[in-house]
Amino acid sequence: MKQLIDPFGRKIEYLRISVTDRCDLRCSYCMSEDVEFLPRQDILSFEEIIRLAKSFALLGVTKIRITGGEPLMRKKLPELIASIKAIEGIEEVVITTNGTLLTQYAKPLFEAGLSRLNISLDTLQADRFKTLTRRDRLQAVLDGIEEAKKYPFESIKLNAVVMRGMNDDEIIPLADFAIANDIDITFIEEMPLGEVGYDRSVTFLSSAEIKSEIEKKYSLESSSYKTGGPAVYCNVENQKTKIGFISPHSNNFCSDCNRVRITAVGRLLLCLGNENSQDLRTTLRAGCSDEDLTEQLISALQLKPEKHNFDLGEEVKILRFMSHTGG
Ligand code: GTP
Ligand code: 5AD
Ligand code: SF4
Repeated sequence: MKQLIDPFGRKIEYLRISVTDRCDLRCSYCMSEDVEFLPRQDILSFEEIIRLAKSFALLGVTKIRITGGEPLMRKKLPELIASIKAIEGIEEVVITTNGTLLTQYAKPLFEAGLSRLNISLDTLQADRFKTLTRRDRLQAVLDGIEEAKKYPFESIKLNAVVMRGMNDDEIIPLADFAIANDIDITFIEEMPLGEVGYDRSVTFLSSAEIKSEIEKKYSLESSSYKTGGPAVYCNVENQKTKIGFISPHSNNFCSDCNRVRITAVGRLLLCLGNENSQDLRTTLRAGCSDEDLTEQLISALQLKPEKHNFDLGEEVKILRFMSHTGG
């Protein structure tokens, strides 16, 4: 079987597909208030996404994460998930969502075969949620989490980006919330993607600082639990919840990178922190054969860099906003 192996010997088994750049929130670290969304015809159709997923599966990809923007902005997303889940070789289809539409979609997502759900939640304070996301939607997210808990997903995980002076006083409340709900949580160091109007070197807080804050209240113990992503997890004494840390600055996890991304417009991105890419939409729309597509994916892997390089304090080098790649 042909496989996706990059010049540094890393095997690609995890594909992240952004299905839209649209979102019903406007998180300040992710997009500007007056963001202009892409025209619909530029976005990959479900048929195009499924064709790509099949090609990747033939090359050894077993896990697909659906991202956005907000993926649930794409109507009929559960149908897409069921189609991807049915592809031979795909063992796991997972999603990263902002949670606002889960009251409506948790059940159909579960029924479609979704294994795990990552939900972004940076604050539990309604006013602050409104400031951080520029929308008054905290209650919708909390209701969405409540609804999702009704179904036996393999895991539900919260993602909290921690920013000094913005939400770092909520590290413990967010951990408390995850523990009270028996769900997992990862705390994330903010990455400098896109020009967002504030100095990220000022708001930066390291995972070590976040962890020592949590240890003021909870006893953490290293865990070997792995989900295929960059998080390093700890068990919390006497609790089901696992607390993870995603440390793109302080712990470079690139040496075991196993993933590539497809943006909403079908650009294959070899690394989140680098602009090397291959335009797959043009190839698809030119009516390429399955063999040509496979060869293009294999050769694109030559563009995968050894590691990301995020410099805080300097000029923003990656102008692409997170909403085009979904993280
Ligand atoms: P699972 O391990 O499957 O739960 O997924 P995940 O934690 O990798 O995915 P999620 O979409 O929840 O992403 C959480 C955070 O990790 C986001 O801020 C992502 O941008 C970040 N992240 C995921 N993969 C990478 C990567 O390859 N490089 C960098 N720098 N950040 C990543
Ligand atoms: N740095 C780190 N994480 C980010 N996310 C969005 N923008 C950034 C950033 N600049 C997170 C979201 C979501 C995940 C996909 O990425 O909060 O949980
Ligand atoms: Fe939307 Fe997610 Fe970006 Fe927030 S981080 S604006 S929820 S895409």
